[in-house]
Amino acid sequence: MEKKNFLYITSKDILLKQKYVIKFYDELKDEVICFLDKDNDIKIYSSICPHFGGEIYYDKKKDYLRCKWHDWKFCKNTGKCLSYPIKLKLNPYDFEVRPNNLKNYSVKLKNDEIYLNYEK
Ligand code: FES
Repeated sequence: MEKKNFLYITSKDILLKQKYVIKFYDELKDEVICFLDKDNDIKIYSSICPHFGGEIYYDKKKDYLRCKWHDWKFCKNTGKCLSYPIKLKLNPYDFEVRPNNLKNYSVKLKNDEIYLNYEK
C-alpha cells in the first residue's frame, strides 16, 4: 500500500509577503514552486521546465506560470502547457513539439503551515 508523506514547504504568512517559494527536495528529486494565485489558492508545482529545465516562476499579473528561459507558459490550475503546439520548420522535416505538463503536487494546510503531500 502507498504511504502518504508530507514535506514542509513554508507558512502562509511568508507566501503572503513573497511572490513564491522555491525549494529542492531529495525525496522528490525535484525542485518545487509554491505560490498563492490571484484567488489566494495555494499551488505547488515542479519548478523545472519540461522543455530544457529552465526555472519556472508564477506571474501573478497574468495569473499563469512561466519559464525564465524561453517563456513557455503553463496553466496555474492544471500545469498544462499553454504555449503548445509549437511548429518548427526544419529541413527536411516539419515537426511539432508537444510539451509535457508541469508536475502538480497536492497541498496540505495545517495551522497556516503549508505541506506538500506525496506518495512513496
Ligand atoms: S527551458 Fe523552459 S521554455 Fe525552454
